[in-house]
Amino acid sequence: MTKDRLTTSAGAPVPSNNTSATAGPRGPVMLEDYQLVEKLAHQNRERIPERVVHAKGWGAEGTFTVTHDITKYTCAKIFSQVGNTCDILSRWSTVAGELGAADAERDVRGFSIKFYTEEGNWDVVGNNTPIFFVRDAFKFPDFIRTQKRHPKTNLRSPEAMFDFWAAQPESVHQVTILMSDRGIPVNPMHMHGYGSHTYSMWNAQGGRHWVKFHFRCQQEIKNYSNGEAEKLIGSTRESYQEDLYNAIDEGQFPKWELNIQVMPEEQANDVDFNPFDLTKVWPHDQFPLIPVGMLEFNKNPENYFQMVENAAFSPSNKIPGIGFSPDKMLQARVFSYADAHRYRLGTHYEALPANAPKAAKLNHYHKDGSMRFFTNDFGNPDAYYEPNQYGGPVADPSVKEPPLKISGDMDRYEQVETDADYVQPRKLYTEVLDAAQRDRLHKNMAAAFGPCSQPVKERWLAVLEKVHPDYAAGVRAADEAGDTDVNAIPVSDDTPVDSND
Ligand code: HEM
Repeated sequence: MTKDRLTTSAGAPVPSNNTSATAGPRGPVMLEDYQLVEKLAHQNRERIPERVVHAKGWGAEGTFTVTHDITKYTCAKIFSQVGNTCDILSRWSTVAGELGAADAERDVRGFSIKFYTEEGNWDVVGNNTPIFFVRDAFKFPDFIRTQKRHPKTNLRSPEAMFDFWAAQPESVHQVTILMSDRGIPVNPMHMHGYGSHTYSMWNAQGGRHWVKFHFRCQQEIKNYSNGEAEKLIGSTRESYQEDLYNAIDEGQFPKWELNIQVMPEEQANDVDFNPFDLTKVWPHDQFPLIPVGMLEFNKNPENYFQMVENAAFSPSNKIPGIGFSPDKMLQARVFSYADAHRYRLGTHYEALPANAPKAAKLNHYHKDGSMRFFTNDFGNPDAYYEPNQYGGPVADPSVKEPPLKISGDMDRYEQVETDADYVQPRKLYTEVLDAAQRDRLHKNMAAAFGPCSQPVKERWLAVLEKVHPDYAAGVRAADEAGDTDVNAIPVSDDTPVDSND
């Protein structure tokens, strides 16, 4: 077989890739051996900063197909007709672990999808839980600090985690899910996904509805117990990558059904919870799931780094017909992700293959800067500012979003403690989880806060007491007895239930 000639990165043929040029057979090496210098220099630049959160992840490419008509809610072109399709890229992740962390750890899983639509890329950057720990962006960096390593010991700190959560009782809903049977999915293919925040959709008449996005797993919901996960990590730290890669390689393509919950714009004032509070679900009996389309992941990326490590998902990537909501965490995320990408990947991160629109024509006036490797000169070099009379692209007022009907006095609205933060976790604890699930929750929670000091334990138990006295008593008993062994977790059905759905 004739092989291609090895070249320098400037395209010149290379005489040797083995032996450095030296002055005599015993050295020293010549500085003019530029190919050696270049090889070493490239290696030194092979790593980029890992994501500040969600550093460990697994990705796949696929196709989204619209299966149901939702044009009464949105004018987004991708949803204009049943049967429409677009390419998708997904990345699933853990939150706290670093790039080399083990896959099967108890943690929330990130669930990001990029839809390459004909009107640009639409990103849903969600989790495998319908809610989140905190509802104000001010708390996010502190929360993440408690999940990462202690500055002195350089170890993870359960003391910090539970100290923080005890001071933020709104977190008990999400912590309950994290410590429940759903805390360690066997791999990304066996969990649901959620946009979590409330977003909005507007239709061709300018009518707005609030929406929640749900990605219903078409595989069984399967999770590990702590013991099973520990055993697995002892034999492989890369179980998710192995499972996902091999499944797709063998033609077993994982699927999720996109569903939406819909709330008419005016109804937001009438429900007995804040529909823009990220620590709350929308009850399914009031807001049933409406099927929209199917996601199928059928391609392993040709190059992991190029398509998954370089992927830049951002809630700021939205398309006409899909809008934000007043959720204040969401506004913060709209800023934070693009900022993170500029730092992690560089100014022109959206020109990288994972992030560049595939189905939409790119027409913007951003120009130069480090690593500009795209052309956007619109065929006329005079059209490099706007407005111009040389045929450059112009804004399209027809895609303008209808006004968001919100008003209020600017202030820092303090959260007053009410029972509202305990109502949904209480429902989850008493009505959704059965006795065996509650027992496993007590044990998992006791295992997680076992290393904490007694004062921190007491503060957290006081939060659980407000959810339900049995919850606090169950965790206390498991902790005092050191009873934290959980048997295998049964595979669960696909019935949507509030909170732990
Ligand atoms: C104000 C709150 C939040 C802030 C400031 C924030 C910030 C960030 C940042 C800076 C990254 C790293 C991005 C990168 O380097 O590529 C990230 C990743 C991520 N975040 Fe958040 N985050 C917040 C809340 C949330 C919430 C509520 C969710 C889910 C509902 C979420 C889901 C994710 C996911 C899935 C990733 C990984 C994206 C990927 O796969 O590349 N985050 N977040």
